[in-house]
Amino acid sequence: MYTVKNAIATLVEEFLKSKGAEATDIASLLEVPADTKNGDLSLPCFRFSKALRCAPPMIAAQLKEAIEGALPQVEKIDAMGGYLNFYLKGEFFVNALARISAEENFGSSEVGKGKTVCLDFSSPNIAKRFHVGHLGTTAIGGCLKNLYDFCGYTTVGINHLGDWGTQFGKLIVAYKKWSSAEKVKERGISELVDIYVRFSAEAEKDDSLNDEARAAFAKLESLDEEYIAIWQSFKEISLREYMKTYELLGVEFDSYNGESFYNDKMDAIVDELREKGLLVVDDGASIVRLDDYDMPPAIILKKDGSTLYATRDITAAIWRKNNYDFHKCVYVTSAGQSLHFAQYFKVVELMGYDWAKDLVHVPYGTMSVNGEKLASRTGNVILLDDLFGEAIAKAEKIIEEKNSDLKDKRGTAEAVGVGAIVFGALRDGRIKDTNFVWEEALSFDGNTGPYVQYTYARTASILRKSEGDMGDYSAYSPLAEESALIKLLCTFPDKVLAALADHEPCVIARYALELCAAYNLFYHNCTILKAEGEAKAFRLQLTATAKHVLGKCLDLLGMKRTEEI
Ligand code: ARG
Repeated sequence: MYTVKNAIATLVEEFLKSKGAEATDIASLLEVPADTKNGDLSLPCFRFSKALRCAPPMIAAQLKEAIEGALPQVEKIDAMGGYLNFYLKGEFFVNALARISAEENFGSSEVGKGKTVCLDFSSPNIAKRFHVGHLGTTAIGGCLKNLYDFCGYTTVGINHLGDWGTQFGKLIVAYKKWSSAEKVKERGISELVDIYVRFSAEAEKDDSLNDEARAAFAKLESLDEEYIAIWQSFKEISLREYMKTYELLGVEFDSYNGESFYNDKMDAIVDELREKGLLVVDDGASIVRLDDYDMPPAIILKKDGSTLYATRDITAAIWRKNNYDFHKCVYVTSAGQSLHFAQYFKVVELMGYDWAKDLVHVPYGTMSVNGEKLASRTGNVILLDDLFGEAIAKAEKIIEEKNSDLKDKRGTAEAVGVGAIVFGALRDGRIKDTNFVWEEALSFDGNTGPYVQYTYARTASILRKSEGDMGDYSAYSPLAEESALIKLLCTFPDKVLAALADHEPCVIARYALELCAAYNLFYHNCTILKAEGEAKAFRLQLTATAKHVLGKCLDLLGMKRTEEI
């Protein structure tokens, strides 16, 4: 394929070979300088210094002499220090714009064709309210799923609901003592949370309640009909509330197989572990020792024979491999669970499954509120419902003030309010710990989601007013801010791949911000609708392409497109 990078690379390779040096993959060495003063592309010559036995500035100067004039799309070449800087002609950018605007799925790729990726994300523990602590996994996981889809993978979004474990014994006891089907129906998760809190308080005074809870869980595990029905109702109530949040976020799952799904599948895995000589009985519990890997043991069965979180995860991984034959299985949780994943990935490896290397944990930093750990029990949480509610109300108020004639006020306020929260959750590197601050979460100014949505709406509005007036622009000679915008647009496919390689949504979020800044600079410096001839045609095409790419960024981040604000 002819690209300027390849053309430069070929000439540089010829030069190197003529000097008896090896030359491979020169195109990948070409960098885009941070400052346009240093050209549009730059070749660092330090790498060749040893083979050519020559100082880098000397090599740059010789190279300049050898290839100057041989590249039709290059305006001038400068040797600066150890760098060779290339300044491209305007026609290069005009051609680039024509090329990327003609690509229907610009930015997408087929790198994942034929490969399936499982994404285990969100996965709340049922009977608990959705709070800001769940925002990270839901927003990051949703974005990663979109990225994998965009790169041609087949994706399976899995909500590994926390719907099994001893806490359900406690909840059933509490329910039978202090609640009823009517109350749960009326108050939803709030009722379940309240009786759970009451159980904890009363069990501190009266330990026999804990024995009752253990007995209740054992009954649930033996699939007692009445207990299963109660547990099922807890699950339904919880899911009904979670679905509202998922709808608002535009997040969808292909499977809701939670922990309970693996109930009847764990025995076989425990047997397998035993047969493979991995299980050791330690103080009554069955464990897999991981001392050789500097990790505490993975507990597979408790003293009383009950299974644990890890037992269910090991079973789930094997089930998913058998069912989906995944290329990768990605888990998005807070970094607090890193040890759990490292332990159980190791157990799967020790079982002899070479695909254990395809299990990937994507951790993110923990969130605190008012500088303190999130804790539902003490009330130090921000519920997602409240957060979204506030954000949407704020957006509604602003719309009412600034554009009360807007057609879909409620829909737009929802898009902007939720967009602000989602963008805020994705903008910073995922591993950074964060402290929740209301004003920051609700900020619509500066580098925020609403700023991106607003810029997107600006491109949409210009195109609406242009009435499809495009036309030829092949002889147009672009201004600096126009070339800068095109250059940025051209890097979109690289950004998508980089975000995927590191499982880092912030690459896309930050790119969207850069794009908005570049577009707004262009918008302020160049007339668009009032321009004429080729300039107008070119600027409209540039606007359309910026809209296309910004729109894709919003889609990938899981934010709604706002055609009008
Ligand atoms: N339910 C867990 C929690 O709320 C997250 C589950 C993550 N997925 C998994 N396969 N372990 O912390």
